[in-house]
Amino acid sequence: MVIAQPKTLAAEVRSDFPILNQQINGKPLVYLDNAATSQKPLVVLEALRHYYEWDNANVHRGVHTLSSRATDAYEGARDKIAAFVNAASRQEIVYTRNASEAINLVAYSWGSQLQAGDEIILSVMEHHSNLIPWQMLAQRTGAVLKFVGLTATQEFDLDQFRSLVSNKTKLVSVVHVSNTLGCINPVQEITAIAHQYGAKVLIDACQSVPHMPIDVQALDCDWLVASGHKMCGPTGIGFLYGQLDLLRAMPPFLGGGEMIADVFLDHATYADLPHKFEAGTPAIAEAIALGAAVDYLTNLGMERIHSYEAELTAYLFKRLADIPELTLFGPRPNEHGEGRAALAAFTAGMVHPHDLSTILDQAGIAIRAGHHCTQPLHRYLEAQSTARASLYFYNTEAEIDRLIEALKEAVDFFGSIFN
Ligand SMILES: Cc1ncc(COP(=O)(O)O)c(C=O)c1O
Repeated sequence: MVIAQPKTLAAEVRSDFPILNQQINGKPLVYLDNAATSQKPLVVLEALRHYYEWDNANVHRGVHTLSSRATDAYEGARDKIAAFVNAASRQEIVYTRNASEAINLVAYSWGSQLQAGDEIILSVMEHHSNLIPWQMLAQRTGAVLKFVGLTATQEFDLDQFRSLVSNKTKLVSVVHVSNTLGCINPVQEITAIAHQYGAKVLIDACQSVPHMPIDVQALDCDWLVASGHKMCGPTGIGFLYGQLDLLRAMPPFLGGGEMIADVFLDHATYADLPHKFEAGTPAIAEAIALGAAVDYLTNLGMERIHSYEAELTAYLFKRLADIPELTLFGPRPNEHGEGRAALAAFTAGMVHPHDLSTILDQAGIAIRAGHHCTQPLHRYLEAQSTARASLYFYNTEAEIDRLIEALKEAVDFFGSIFN
């Protein structure tokens, strides 16, 4: 008797992503650049189309039917995002263009009160988006940036963090899951420690919100940011979560329409949250489509996505070990694939990562090569650049096999040149 195997998550969802069903350079596409941006399921494409085909109108500005439909869908998506990250109130979710804008919002609005000598703690693994806004703030205010380094296993050094944090610390801003090392930082613990000193905590959750359940109340962070395009949503939309009282106390970031209550020639009062932070016509279709992406992920189940990705991670690292020429970065997963994210950054001796990526592209395989917007981390690791394969729940073990096969061929080819 043949016992039917349960379908993997990837097999179940694959047809939702038509873009994956194409040939690149004569080979079936293997898309392994998900940390840069994810692909979009049909329901998200359909939400964009439906909005422009049926509901297109400006939000919050009209009483006509299209405007109220657009407003309902736009605000409805906010409810979905709030529920997705377990925010206590929908007013705690502010739409932004992306995670970078969300961090800049906090740096300009909340950050403007900082004074010379106040300290901001970051880590050496931060994405440029969670570094440059704080550098600019430090230049404006005289605040001082401090950096947490890595442990021997290339993870966040919690002991060093404990030794850096003090009553001078006003902010700790750290990445939840590193887009290069793949380590999962102990953000709940970091937050608890920072709060003992009265410091605020911002979590860059760009690489965690798409891949695992996130509960902002359990994390107890002050702010958390994410980008829609990495979680099956469109580009041009992201969000800032902020604790209600804190957002209330923060001055507006950008001025203009939508963010006001009463306007006079010489002054204005501002709208209530979250609109105080949403000046001008927003990315309406994108917000609605992000709501569709959140529904899609919720229906699949974030626990399920996370555990399927852990299986892929175990397999990826097992197979990468077949290529001894590779240097892998970040912690190794345990046998169940847990303890790190479903991505691998690596170098292959003298072979330039761009050359690896170009050769893999010839085999239909999309990986990223470069500094992944973490130049200081690359300097810290003494690597000019790395190649990175990053997975999502629609990827398969067979695709990992294709990656390994192509990597082996590339390493052998360059090995024959260099040796
Ligand atoms: C960890 C991390 N933080 C921040 C960002 C910035 O996201 P965005 O460019 O969408 O603002 C990224 C995107 O690569 C990221 O991986």
